[in-house]
Amino acid sequence: MKKDFPILERKINGHDFVYLDSAATSQKPRQVIEAMNDYYTNYNANVHRGVYKISEEASEKYDDARSKVKNFINASSEQEIIYTKGTTESINLVMRSWGEKFIKKGDKIVTTIMEHHSNFVPWQQLASKTGAIFEVVGINKNYELDESELERKIKGAKLVAVTHASNVLGTINPVEKICKIAHDNDAVVLVDGAQSIPHFPVDVRKIDCDFFAFSGHKMLGPTGIGVLYGKKELLESMDPFNYGGDMISEVHVDKSEWNKLPYKFEAGTPPIAEVIGLGAAISYLEKIGMKKIREHEKELTNYAIEMLSKIKNCKIIGSVDVDKRLGAITFDIAGIHPHDLASLLNEKGIAIRTGHHCAMPLHEYLKLNATARASFYIYNEKKDVDALVDSINYAKKIFGVK
Ligand code: ALA
Repeated sequence: MKKDFPILERKINGHDFVYLDSAATSQKPRQVIEAMNDYYTNYNANVHRGVYKISEEASEKYDDARSKVKNFINASSEQEIIYTKGTTESINLVMRSWGEKFIKKGDKIVTTIMEHHSNFVPWQQLASKTGAIFEVVGINKNYELDESELERKIKGAKLVAVTHASNVLGTINPVEKICKIAHDNDAVVLVDGAQSIPHFPVDVRKIDCDFFAFSGHKMLGPTGIGVLYGKKELLESMDPFNYGGDMISEVHVDKSEWNKLPYKFEAGTPPIAEVIGLGAAISYLEKIGMKKIREHEKELTNYAIEMLSKIKNCKIIGSVDVDKRLGAITFDIAGIHPHDLASLLNEKGIAIRTGHHCAMPLHEYLKLNATARASFYIYNEKKDVDALVDSINYAKKIFGVK
């Protein structure tokens, strides 16, 4: 399957390219690139506006992709699938269109310390603007959410915003259970699915979340396209996010009326090529099978944890139980700054991410400044782990670290 990813044929600094930063963005298979190229080459036209052949073709492909997304996450209806620019915009849409309308002074918003900034800052800011209470749930020594703290804090909450899987720790959160507790307390739940949906099957109806946000670019699709899933009655109760063409049904000098779902939230010309690319990415993932993808990544993660654990003074910041985690492995090598490590790895053609991974509150909580992260996807193999481990050992020699 690696042959489907042209970029992985590159040599970097004279070495085979080893891409270990898929939690930041995934590489794209030929099938996705070609689907987008085909649109621009053969039927580039605006959607839902022209009564001519190529506009009809574009509209058909565009609408097909929405149906693929709906089936991929098992939503009830295409009206519940809103296209956005990505996870960040999906969450900001909920913050503005739902939060600013329904969150009032004294209401409680609950989130967690392991959130990416995109599912933390919007709620922190909403709380500070409205006078709502902002509660943050911590983690235990196994890098999992502290369940008793979670249950205590959810009591009386109006909104719970939680990540499905941590981009730093790899921890997979029990979102089904969290939704149950939240709903028993009449709270609305938003799940940030940016890190989960590329890696294992997601069923929004089984989870029973009210909102689910994700991005195309982490699941083999292009950048600039994401999805907000929302339960229909909630989306209907919300105000539009952006105003403009396509999101209206009628416009008069003195008033306007909004289009039906999902178009009410999709003002302006949409990212057509990106939507088509996302559709192609879903077809590609489905052809392999999400369960198979999960199995492959579990095996690789297990191997990586085993190999990294053999390196003296290498600390894995996350659970070692592969059933409870993803293949985004954050680690620290005592005596080597993560940026120095990443630069040396780059010399060997290996790409990893370093820094706070857009999760500063978690780094503060764990008293860490910066960390290194290797993250795997469908195209990675055991030999990529071997290359990582060899290069870490090489870096330790260069830096004179035991
Ligand atoms: N959220 C992305 C990451 O974790 C950018 O790298």
